[in-house]
Amino acid sequence: MSFFACIFDTMNIFTSKLLAWYAQYKRDLPWRHSNDPYIIWLSEVILQQTRMAQGLPYYERFLAQYPTVKDLANANEDEVLKLWQGLGYYSRARNLHKAAKEVANQQNGIFPNTYKKLIALPGVGPYTASAIASICFDAPTAVVDGNVYRVLARYFDVEIPINKPEGVRYFQELAQSLIDTKKPGIYNQAIMEFGALQCTPKQPLCTSCPIEENCQSRAKNTIGIRPQKIKAKAVKNRFFHYLVPFDSKQNTLLQRREGKDIWHGLYEFPLLEADCILTEKALKSHPDLPTWATTAKWTKFEDKVMTHKLSHQNLHTHFWILEEVEKSLPTPWSDVPNFGVPRLIERFLQKFNR
Ligand code: ADE
Repeated sequence: MSFFACIFDTMNIFTSKLLAWYAQYKRDLPWRHSNDPYIIWLSEVILQQTRMAQGLPYYERFLAQYPTVKDLANANEDEVLKLWQGLGYYSRARNLHKAAKEVANQQNGIFPNTYKKLIALPGVGPYTASAIASICFDAPTAVVDGNVYRVLARYFDVEIPINKPEGVRYFQELAQSLIDTKKPGIYNQAIMEFGALQCTPKQPLCTSCPIEENCQSRAKNTIGIRPQKIKAKAVKNRFFHYLVPFDSKQNTLLQRREGKDIWHGLYEFPLLEADCILTEKALKSHPDLPTWATTAKWTKFEDKVMTHKLSHQNLHTHFWILEEVEKSLPTPWSDVPNFGVPRLIERFLQKFNR
């Protein structure tokens, strides 16, 4: 008998109590009234690495702008990235658009209906494929996201780190062994919802928890250290100097980021990157300095360095305003809000407010 089968009794209690809790406390979220795979896919991709309160308005805007997968496929990438602006992890938006094109053009707008076919779509990993397959097609495929890791690690007091391959395998199998095969979509949403509302990262609501009695971490007083994680990758510091140029007609210049670095496809002002924060004098001999910058009038926008944190990078940034650029520039300042820009540039634009 397998280890998971041995603890089956406990799991049965776990699953049934979880479903009862969900029936009573689930939030009324717009996609919970649908099992249309386009709607479920859109909501799940938006909600990855995003809090519900932040993700909801994006979901509403995307669905209003692109009511069907064909509408999304026919959009251009700049427009999709603009609508995604502020959500971060922009590869999600690029893959969303790519996957929409695949479904619209190669499958006549009909979403794949199995885990195996779903996971072949751009940006669809085990989590998203399991969510869509279970919620829309009743496939018994268990989801494992941050909420699920936390609930299971605590309830079963699992020490194995969740960010090691062994942990990923262990939790996937554990989640799979607990799924309600008759209502897999409801079970999957119940365990995620339970992690989001009851078994929260900080100060979980143990005293009102319906499964507290059988919670191993609660008994052993290890709630605060579950789930276990091995030390994350070191954070890299980068030093950005943006040149915000104006010609005599108050036109400016934005450039599209290309290549493998962060923010592919988004727009930004001309950038000089260095190993530390540089002075005006040092920037003027930077190898990437555009020739039009040499004769302009430079002013630093705020002495204070603006620090923007990404998952594994801290971006320390100065913005330099360059007036009276002699070359004529392509973009009227009033058009700048129409470009999809990183949150860092958006923050600058809000403060600069010209
Ligand atoms: N987080 C991401 N997707 C979710 C869902 N379908 N239900 C609850 N929480 C979620």
